[in-house]
Amino acid sequence: MKITAVLLAAGQGTRMKSDLPKVLHPLCGRPMIWHVMESLKQVATEKPVVVVGHGAEQVEAFLAEAADCVRQEPQLGTAHAALQAESIIKGKSDLVIITYADMPLLRGETFKQLVETQRVNPGPLTLLTAISENPRGFGRIVRKTDGSVSAIVEEYVATPEQKLIKELNVGAYCFKADWLWGALHRIKKNPQKGEYYLTDVVELAAQDNLPVQAVVHDDLIETIGINTRVHLAEAEAAMRKRINENLMLSGVTMMDPVSTYIEAGVTIGKDTLILPNTYIQGKTKIGEHCIIGPNSHLRDMQIGNGCKVFMSVMEGAILENDVDMGPFARLRKGAHLGNHVHMGNFGEVKDSYLADGVKMGHFSYIGNAQIGANTNIGAGTITCNFDGEKKHPTEIGEDVFIGSDTMLVAPLKIGAGARTGAGAVVTKNIPEDTLVVGMPARPIKKLERKQKKN
Ligand code: UD1
Ligand code: MG
Repeated sequence: MKITAVLLAAGQGTRMKSDLPKVLHPLCGRPMIWHVMESLKQVATEKPVVVVGHGAEQVEAFLAEAADCVRQEPQLGTAHAALQAESIIKGKSDLVIITYADMPLLRGETFKQLVETQRVNPGPLTLLTAISENPRGFGRIVRKTDGSVSAIVEEYVATPEQKLIKELNVGAYCFKADWLWGALHRIKKNPQKGEYYLTDVVELAAQDNLPVQAVVHDDLIETIGINTRVHLAEAEAAMRKRINENLMLSGVTMMDPVSTYIEAGVTIGKDTLILPNTYIQGKTKIGEHCIIGPNSHLRDMQIGNGCKVFMSVMEGAILENDVDMGPFARLRKGAHLGNHVHMGNFGEVKDSYLADGVKMGHFSYIGNAQIGANTNIGAGTITCNFDGEKKHPTEIGEDVFIGSDTMLVAPLKIGAGARTGAGAVVTKNIPEDTLVVGMPARPIKKLERKQKKN
């Protein structure tokens, strides 16, 4: 059975008061529409169709190959929007799910339930409803005395009695494709608003004496539709809770999930502890048995097992295993710290590789550098990598001891086992096992290495 999802995303989203199309507003780091598409993937068999209009270029650019986009211009209501998908889907699908792209909390399982109910429904459509004391401006579900659904009444046309109805139209429908397109063409323009309402399909089915089924949903959180930024914040909190709960159930400890901000798509291994006020974003992957936080910010990080990140900020970098960072350490794009690296307070590393066992305890800047295993970077060391025009590389060998407050004026190569005296300004390459001191630094002694590499 072929199942295609149609997402309606052409509306202006006026109530958001934003330059950004509503469906691109992020929720836990991903645009609203991404979340809906993820859920629909679990049930649809065909590529989704997204109806775009307001901000079409931006939405299309985000979706790229993930969906077939069709434009709705002008935007004449949800039924008119759904009709735009006809040319793409007609004759190619058995069931069509139609949903609004501003409902990012709907789960894949809920769409599955909708489809399963429609599969056995002799009638043409099944819709999702929810019972709630808070109507949020949703359409009300009108049922006949025998319990069958006869209409959806939008709030602004509802009578005072209808306004009291607690069963609401969530905004997800599953249709028999061969009935849907004809019905959409039959929908008349709503006289008050001049729009074509998708919700009128229910009355059409009732007029044809065809049964409309409803799946009554009990998790109200899932049905948060986003029309304003207040709703967006509510949905963000709900999504955050869901992400954190899934992680905790998979073995991650969170001291205070409420103040732990993890974006959709982040992965974290078991027995890792996340401490409060920590932000984990983008494509971050964290291994097992790590301690992250408190007060840390991580984006697009790859972190191995057994790492400690204490009050630090990092982006686009790699930590291998058992790395110990912080407090107040900063990693920028291209930083790569090997196993057992220690990076203490007020250090910054970008575009550099620190091999296994490197120690960099205090106040250093390392940029465009390669540092060999077990080298010690003294307090206040700076790679002077920028000459005002270009960035230059620094290469430091294994077992090097860089004295406190050394300035390494790049480009520069420092041989294995070398040492610099405190305050040295190194402007020339240093051979292996050589001590240099002064400004500019000059060699004063050949050294015996304690553990020379074989
Ligand atoms: C709609 C439903 C309402 C339901 C509510 C749930 C109708 C008429 N009403 O109202 O019963 O309770 O959702 O959230 O369907 N869109 C287009 N083209 C248009 C108009 C809208 O693509 O011409 C898209 C919007 O981008 C949005 C979705 O359809 O993603 C819903 O539109 P919106 O204006 O938010 O409808 P609601 O007033 O919320
Ligand atoms: Mg809406």
